[in-house]
Amino acid sequence: MSTERRVPWIIKYRPKRIEEVVNQEEAKMKFVSWLRKWPNVQKRAALLYGPPGCGKTSLVEAAANEFGYELIEMNASDFRRKTDIERIAKRAATTSSLFGSAKKIILLDEVDGISGREDSGGLEAILQLIKISPSPIVMTANDPWDQSLKPLRDASEMIKFDRLKKQDVVRVLRRICEAEGLMCEEEALEYIAERSEGDLRSAINDLQAVGEGYGKVTLSLVKALVRPRDREHDPFETLKNLFSAKYAWQAKMALSQSQLDYDQLRLWLLDNIALQYTDPEDRARAYEALSRADIYMGRIIKTGDWDLLAYAIDMMTAGVAMAAKNNPKDKYRWVKYTFPQRLTLLARTKEVRAIRDDLARILASHLHISTSLAKSEIIPLLHVVFMTNPEYAAKLAVGLGLSEKMIEFLAGPEKTTVLKYYREFKEAIQRQALQQAISTQQVAKPEKEKPKPSTKTSKKVKSETKSSLLSYLKK
Ligand SMILES: Nc1ncnc2c1ncn2[C@@H]1O[C@H](COP(=O)(O)OP(=O)(O)OP(=O)(O)O)[C@@H](O)[C@H]1O
Ligand SMILES: [Mg+2]
Repeated sequence: MSTERRVPWIIKYRPKRIEEVVNQEEAKMKFVSWLRKWPNVQKRAALLYGPPGCGKTSLVEAAANEFGYELIEMNASDFRRKTDIERIAKRAATTSSLFGSAKKIILLDEVDGISGREDSGGLEAILQLIKISPSPIVMTANDPWDQSLKPLRDASEMIKFDRLKKQDVVRVLRRICEAEGLMCEEEALEYIAERSEGDLRSAINDLQAVGEGYGKVTLSLVKALVRPRDREHDPFETLKNLFSAKYAWQAKMALSQSQLDYDQLRLWLLDNIALQYTDPEDRARAYEALSRADIYMGRIIKTGDWDLLAYAIDMMTAGVAMAAKNNPKDKYRWVKYTFPQRLTLLARTKEVRAIRDDLARILASHLHISTSLAKSEIIPLLHVVFMTNPEYAAKLAVGLGLSEKMIEFLAGPEKTTVLKYYREFKEAIQRQALQQAISTQQVAKPEKEKPKPSTKTSKKVKSETKSSLLSYLKK
């Protein structure tokens, strides 16, 4: 158990002191002076904003640690209801806590997640909290410029974080290599840094994947392994990497470096688990994990809640890889994997009518109409959308869980363009979900535990698909 669970380096090397947060000097100064003056400040809240993985949350944690604050952390999705806010405020108001510190910081992470939300209740509640809170409120956001967040901006000290430069990223990576006693080539670190586009979280994850897997970080290894942005591995390699993963994050990495997306991976696993694992209980565990992933996927398509994708991915990667308990040697067996039956069948026998029927069923259940109405009214309309607005069409297709065959059917001559967007789009949400899955290292949680949702891209998909399909159709 304990050997299977390694600490992710993004947690191990999280800055503990303010000086360890690199290259955000202006933000650090502004934030620290605001915090020290509190409550004698103009704005009772601070809003830290900037690109992902540049140190916003890290700075708050480091400052709390250094100045002896207790940090009360909340995710945007937690403060939907007013009662929650009142509960937090109460907790913040109690003067002493069990573990010592009376000083508290309330951290509301990723508040831009609430901008698209239908109910403005959450926003009002935060504004209220800012007014009455006996402790400083600190918020973070990637993009605080949404119209609906204006009241929040007005109430906050705005603190800007810059995208980290390549050299900053390299410096942090080098320090980690030294601490881990890892041999590393300078060009390898530069390669990783280049690819991270200033996102230190993803850079550190890449470094760990190579460093822990191979014990050294060379340019050739990195070139071969770090390819999350243009994915390379073919299905057979992906399966091999996934099954042989010793740690959960390695299994997730197998997907992130694969040509397959999450939908395709499910199909490949369906046929190949039984080939890789020989023990009946191991097999059962693996199929159980896969079927949980299916349940999550079904729920995502039904509700548009893409936050769940990280959990679905968790099940189908880590869940499957960790299933070989009775016969762990099976993990490394050489297996001649088979091409998914369902894909071959679909490719060969599905004709247009069957595709249209499937499509009509999906639309009917989404829009609560009959399949014949979907066929006579909606599909013709979608034809137009798919042929005139490929990017938007691709978003709809992802949100509705349409297959590539359905897209080809709808887009006709535009199919290459729509499919290009469709794959790009899937890749983006998948990358984000993986990042989330890797950075939180949640392994195969039981169904009933409520997953903690993420925000950003997934939220965008959510609001842009279902609701916009409806509004499009109402025109
Ligand atoms: N400026 C930095 N200095 C040192 N380490 C950093 C810095 N920025 C990021 N990191 C590392 O990357 C990880 C992620 O950073 P952090 O959580 O602070 O990002 P963030 O800016 O809050 O991003 P997001 O908007 O995605 O929440 C941290 O655990 C830390 O190890
Ligand atoms: Mg953060």
